Amino acid sequence: MKFIAPSMLACDFGKLDVEIDMVNKSKANWFHIDVMDGVFVPNISFGSPIMKVLKNSAEKPLDVHLMIVEPEKYIKKFADMGANILTVHVEVCKHLHSIVQKIKNLNMKAGVAINPHTPISSLTSIISELDLVCLMSVNPGFGGQTFIENSYKKIKDLKKLIIETNSKTLIEIDGGVSSKNAKKLVKCGADILVAGSFVFKSKNPSETINNLSSLVN
Ligand code: DX5
Ligand code: ZN
Repeated sequence: MKFIAPSMLACDFGKLDVEIDMVNKSKANWFHIDVMDGVFVPNISFGSPIMKVLKNSAEKPLDVHLMIVEPEKYIKKFADMGANILTVHVEVCKHLHSIVQKIKNLNMKAGVAINPHTPISSLTSIISELDLVCLMSVNPGFGGQTFIENSYKKIKDLKKLIIETNSKTLIEIDGGVSSKNAKKLVKCGADILVAGSFVFKSKNPSETINNLSSLVN
């Protein structure tokens, strides 16, 4: 079973309750939630107030992608705000192993995200501890960017590492996902597809989610 995780960054925050309800009723598996601090990435998105609305109304797991420096300071906070999966960036974690343990000890699934230029080898010593790797297929910071073609090779390399180490880690692809590349991404080894603009800028977002899900399942 391959998962679809709509990125709420691309939704209309003026009608957040309607957007959440649409995802609840669709074939989406997770809510993907992009938290940006304006330091690690050149954009600021949202934090606690939006998390609170999601915690109250979302009926599917909250997959929180932290694009922030010093994520260790906020792990407990996001656990309290209802995060089910918490993903931090390898590029900002000096003590990645301890951060991953902290996430798991708070009963969340632990994810690590890597930027397009960060090699898969940066995950070698931690892979067996991870529930998920979020492979960025655009540079983090904005929705609506063009998919980076080199990501296919990175998925294959990551899948190889997971198999070699007997790990159960899932591969999540984030950025520029659409019906054009979904099948190929899954063929290369992707388990979860994050889709923002492709879903929310479409005429019928619910249908788009369902079609994407049927395409890969
Ligand atoms: C980018 C975010 C993505 C983004 C995906 O920094 O991590 O989750 O919202 O958006 P699309 O699908 O529009 O590339
Ligand atoms: Zn994301």
